[in-house]
Amino acid sequence: LNKISINKKMKNFLPKGFILSSARIDVWEINLQKHDDSVELLKQVLSPDEVKRAERFKIKSKQNEFVLTRGCLRIILSTALGIDAKQLEFAATEQGKPYLKAPCPVDQRICFNVSHSHGFALIAVSLDRDLGVDIERIQNRIDYASLAERFFNPDETKAIMAFPEDKRLEAFYVCWARKEALLKAIGNGISMGLGKFQVSVDPAKPASLVAALWDDFDKDKWWISDLEIHPEYAAAVAARGDRVEVQLRDLFSADPST
Ligand SMILES: CC(C)(COP(=O)(O)OP(=O)(O)OC[C@H]1O[C@@H](n2cnc3c(N)ncnc32)[C@H](O)[C@@H]1OP(=O)(O)O)[C@@H](O)C(=O)NCCC(=O)NCCS
Repeated sequence: LNKISINKKMKNFLPKGFILSSARIDVWEINLQKHDDSVELLKQVLSPDEVKRAERFKIKSKQNEFVLTRGCLRIILSTALGIDAKQLEFAATEQGKPYLKAPCPVDQRICFNVSHSHGFALIAVSLDRDLGVDIERIQNRIDYASLAERFFNPDETKAIMAFPEDKRLEAFYVCWARKEALLKAIGNGISMGLGKFQVSVDPAKPASLVAALWDDFDKDKWWISDLEIHPEYAAAVAARGDRVEVQLRDLFSADPST
């Protein structure tokens, strides 16, 4: 693809009239490896700080992953808000969760979260809704039993180990993605303790937050939903408030006419 056709594609890839909605979470999926050729173009919409940050990644694929994800986030938000992608200013909370600092042309709070893992990225956006998203590539060689023992809640580990051996790895990753999505929605990261809350681990059953041991935390105000991306990946989105529709779409193959 040459620059012109990418440019045209970038302008058209979001459905016509795409708006952010508080009654929906839009999750955009990007197969990063397929779009390496968009890196240079997307770099142009990044801030100088973001470009510097990208250049600090020693591994080229990590650099590209950051540029594509942040660039696409800028394109999505700028299209929905009707402003130039380069004008968006991001800041991050003390715990590192990025948020939109300016400009903010709508009265509602613009909420988003991104995740990237080995060639895939997810960008979740909504209005007035704390949210988090996570994607993890299922890696066959990891010692899931020790990791679960070390990081997860003991009841989750027990539930994972109760599956037949050939199902445990998937249960481990499903559990991980559900947990990370929730922690990212809350925004405090792993400092809150991966063991201090329990999610459901059965990949065949809906995701749920089973228990949370944090003070002043109402677990019923939060929900988690799995995202079906690819058989080799586990992914989930989590949010606060009423459960709303989650619309998952491939960013570069969305039909612009719908
Ligand atoms: C940073 C963290 C929030 C997620 O990290 P991660 O899973 O490695 O990476 P992801 O791709 O899913 O998410 C990274 C994105 O989350 C966002 N993010 C960073 N800090 C965040 C926070 N406190 N809350 C929500 N989102 C955050 C950023 O946008 C970041 O992407 P960017 O730097 O390109 O903008 C943190 O929870 C972490 O370090 N997790 C690793 C946990 C772990 O090792 N678990 C072991 C389980 S066995």
